[in-house]
Amino acid sequence: MTAVLQTSLCSFRPSNGACFDAWASTHTPVNTCSTPRNGRSTCCDALRRAAASDLDRLVELESLTNGSWNPEQIEAELYRERATVLVVDEGEGTVGWAVGWAVPQEIHLMNVAVHPEHQRKGHARALLTALFDQHRGDAESVLLEVRASNESALRLYCSLGFERVGLRRRYYADGEDAVLMTLLLRERRME
Ligand SMILES: CC(C)(COP(=O)(O)OP(=O)(O)OC[C@H]1O[C@@H](n2cnc3c(N)ncnc32)[C@H](O)[C@@H]1OP(=O)(O)O)[C@@H](O)C(=O)NCCC(=O)NCCS
Repeated sequence: MTAVLQTSLCSFRPSNGACFDAWASTHTPVNTCSTPRNGRSTCCDALRRAAASDLDRLVELESLTNGSWNPEQIEAELYRERATVLVVDEGEGTVGWAVGWAVPQEIHLMNVAVHPEHQRKGHARALLTALFDQHRGDAESVLLEVRASNESALRLYCSLGFERVGLRRRYYADGEDAVLMTLLLRERRME
């Protein structure tokens, strides 16, 4: 049962940076960012699709960011047909990743994490912007669940324009609630 929240913590407007209009094929770095955010360099040229060789690093990353996915689950994402898995690779290895599932007319954001030593550099924002841009043609919206206590993630999603639309009570195994958030990618079509 989903209860609609009366208030929204989201006070930011979506960024309109379309970093990845020209998304290239697997393993090809794409550098389409021309405007640094807040005077800081962006990481778009370090973004690429994940490859099988990223697995060990992704397992390490998941552990360092207190993620709940085991190595088998992470590996499965690398081969799942409907999954888009993007990584930030700064040359010394993968420091961030994001996973989205394409379901009809929608992207379900399954995971996003950035190495603790590389956070607050815009990596997560760049990863998600790229992920959404890739699906803008076939998806109308993005859906995600996030732990109610995960303030950094809530702020990240709000900064991208997500709205809080519900609460899944005791959604996680430890009993914590999940906040349900959505982002409209484009106007819905009337079928
Ligand atoms: C949430 C997470 C992915 C953010 O990654 P990140 O690369 O540091 O995020 P970004 O640098 O792109 O931040 C973008 C915006 O999100 C918000 N934000 C991110 N981390 C924040 C923090 N610790 N505190 C406050 N706001 C934060 C800010 O609005 C930030 O914009 P700003 O830096 O211009 O103020 C990262 O903290 C992480 O890996 N956490 C552990 C895994 C996790 O919780 N994943 C989410 C699962 S739902």
